[in-house]
Amino acid sequence: MRKVIFDSDTASDDAIALLYALDHFEVLGVTIVAGNVKYENQVKNALYTLEQFAPDVPVYLGARRPIMGRWRTVEEVHGPTGLGSLTDISPKKKPEKEHAVDAILRLANEYPGELEILAVSPLTNLALAYLKDETLPKKISRVWVMGGAFTRGNTTPLGEFNFWVDPEAAKMVLNAGFNITIVPWEVTEETAYVDDDLWEKISSMRTRRSDFFIRANETLRKYSKATGALGSIHPDTLTVMIANDISIATKTAELNVDVETCGDARGAMMVDWYGLTGRKRNANVVLKANRSKFVEELQKLLSRG
Ligand code: BDR
Ligand code: CA
Repeated sequence: MRKVIFDSDTASDDAIALLYALDHFEVLGVTIVAGNVKYENQVKNALYTLEQFAPDVPVYLGARRPIMGRWRTVEEVHGPTGLGSLTDISPKKKPEKEHAVDAILRLANEYPGELEILAVSPLTNLALAYLKDETLPKKISRVWVMGGAFTRGNTTPLGEFNFWVDPEAAKMVLNAGFNITIVPWEVTEETAYVDDDLWEKISSMRTRRSDFFIRANETLRKYSKATGALGSIHPDTLTVMIANDISIATKTAELNVDVETCGDARGAMMVDWYGLTGRKRNANVVLKANRSKFVEELQKLLSRG
C-alpha cells in the first residue's frame, strides 16, 4: 500500500476524506494544522474519527496558526465543533508528543521517494517542514493539494479557504520544487456534491460509517445549500479519491501556479494558462473530474461496516 501522511484541519469533509484514505493507503500519521475550526476541536475530531475507525494511526499536532495571516475559523460551515451535530465527543485516544513538522521530516527520511502527502488543509505544516529541511521536496513522492480557486473563491471573491488561511505557506510549497497535484475548489464544487437523492441513499444505509457521515456533515449540507449548492460539497474526499486513482481526474494540465499574498486578492490562485511569466510549470492542475465515480466511491466507502 502507498504510504501517506494525512495533513488536515479535521472537520466534516476532512473526516470522510480520512475514512477514504484509511481504506486505500497506509496512513502513517495525521498531522493537524490551523484551519476550519478551533484547534482543540480539530484535534478532538481527528482523534475521535481514528478511535472509531483506525485506533492505531498516530495524530501529530502541528501549526496552531498560519505563518502570517490572521484567519477566521468557519464554524458556520462545519458546525460548532466542526463535526456537524457530533458535538459531544470525548475521545480517549491521545496525540503524540512529537511535533507534526518533525514527524513529517522523520517519515520523509524513513521512506525517501516513497512518502506522499494528502494535504487537504492550509499548507502551514508542510511549509514549516520545508523551511526546516529544504531537501524535503526531493524526498516526497507527491503532494496532493486541495486548494485554490480559478475564479470563484469560497471565502473571498478570489480566495479558496485553504489558500486564503495561509497564502504564504501555499506560495512557499508551490515554489519549493515538490511534485504537486492541485484539486481546485470549482472542480470539487462541480463534481463532489451530495444532493438530496444521494444523501437519502447514504442515510438509509444505516452503517456505522454512513451514520457518521450524516451526523458529521449536517451543518456542511445546510451551509452549502444556503449558498446555492445542491447539497454538501466534499473537496477533501474528492482529492483523496483522485490521489488513489488519477483516472478520476478526467482533465489535467501542467501549469505554473502561484498565490497572491496582498490586499483583497490575498489567497487568490494565479494560474499562468499561457506561459506568460516564463516560469516553470510547477503543478499538475485537475480541471475536470468524474462525478459518477465520486458517487460510486462514496457509496462504496459508506456502505461498508
Ligand atoms: C477546503 O476548506 C475547508 O473548509 C475544507 O475542509 C476544504 O479543505 C475547501 O475550501
Ligand atoms: Ca480540509
